[in-house]
Amino acid sequence: MMNATEKLAAARAQFPVTKRLLYLDSAHQTPLSTNVRAAIEEFLSEGHEMGGPKPVWLRRAEETRERVARFFNAAPNEIAFTKNTSEGLNIAANAVPLEAGDNVVLIEGDHPNNAYAWLNLKRKGVEIRFATLKDDEIATAETFRPYIDERTKVVTLSHVTFHAGQVHDLASIGKLCKDRGIYLVVDAMQSVGVVPLDVKALNISVLAAGTHKGLLVPQGLGVLYVADGLDELQPAYLAMSSMANPPADYIARPEDMVVRKDAGRFEFGNVNLPDLQALSAAIDLINSVGVSDIQKHVSALGDRLIAHLDELGVQLVGPRERGQRSHIYVLALPVDKWADYFARNQVRVSPERGGIRISFAMFNTLEDIDQLAKVIRKGLNEESLAATVQAD
Ligand SMILES: Cc1ncc(COP(=O)(O)O)c(C=O)c1O
Repeated sequence: MMNATEKLAAARAQFPVTKRLLYLDSAHQTPLSTNVRAAIEEFLSEGHEMGGPKPVWLRRAEETRERVARFFNAAPNEIAFTKNTSEGLNIAANAVPLEAGDNVVLIEGDHPNNAYAWLNLKRKGVEIRFATLKDDEIATAETFRPYIDERTKVVTLSHVTFHAGQVHDLASIGKLCKDRGIYLVVDAMQSVGVVPLDVKALNISVLAAGTHKGLLVPQGLGVLYVADGLDELQPAYLAMSSMANPPADYIARPEDMVVRKDAGRFEFGNVNLPDLQALSAAIDLINSVGVSDIQKHVSALGDRLIAHLDELGVQLVGPRERGQRSHIYVLALPVDKWADYFARNQVRVSPERGGIRISFAMFNTLEDIDQLAKVIRKGLNEESLAATVQAD
């Protein structure tokens, strides 16, 4: 039996990118692991040499659905496959029964892919309310309470924010929503695969995520959880795969428009089979460490980063407290000066609205953080960069 350190080392060995660069950008996109690449190559060989067979791919997709469901403590019939987070959130926005005068509460500055899905409902007379929050604060039930009234039908937010790395308190928000009969719709794009998520314990109604960050596969596949029993949530789009009785002769009959009862009612048409095959391999890799140990690991990397930042005099944009942050850290370093500097030093990071975003995954190490600190220190010795860092 390997201990946690050995498991993390074995996982790191699966990511050849770590030999070439200091990859601190998993919140942007995951680098591919060797086993995910092998799964995609297997799919390509099967398609290339044998033309599938598709029934085998579909059976594997159903196995992957079960594995994804276990990830969230959901049942397989509560999982639909989509294209990305945006599609899942738009499916939710158009499935919830909303009338003119109803309202939806979001957080100002949350990911635009969630905001637009709901803002689009203004055409139907739905009111969109924005709760405000500072970058170093996390959202709790109290953040939303002042914005909620008897016409509030939906509260929606990211679990982990892309722009400051806050881990919002879904437990208290879920409880508030349950008590008030409000749907809780969660964008888990940044948290999935990194922070444990129990949709039942958190009273989540709908959860949407893409799979190209913490779920370690290339872009083009999303997962959507829709809680069993929310039968009033009905799909805006239909295809044969959404129907309870798909016609065996492929002739659509207007007299039978009954849709599936499970989350499959929100799936339309073929799904991304190569990515699903990759996702199964990715889940193997994630499970080889375990999401809760991944979270502990990235939080410990964050502790080390914060200690370095304090010593270097560099401010953190998001929260400092453990539990309020996970793998995303934005450094208050002006993007126009520092983005190039990091690129020149083979450090992969992202420009963000508050500065330079550093993000971790299971394959990063404490040595990576020490290496990053060295690079920042070297930058601070360059006159043009030093001038950009404000003292307290
Ligand atoms: C919180 C959040 N939501 C959504 C997205 C992306 O949406 P999509 O999966 O539709 O491309 C991102 C980042 O890419 C994100 O950070």
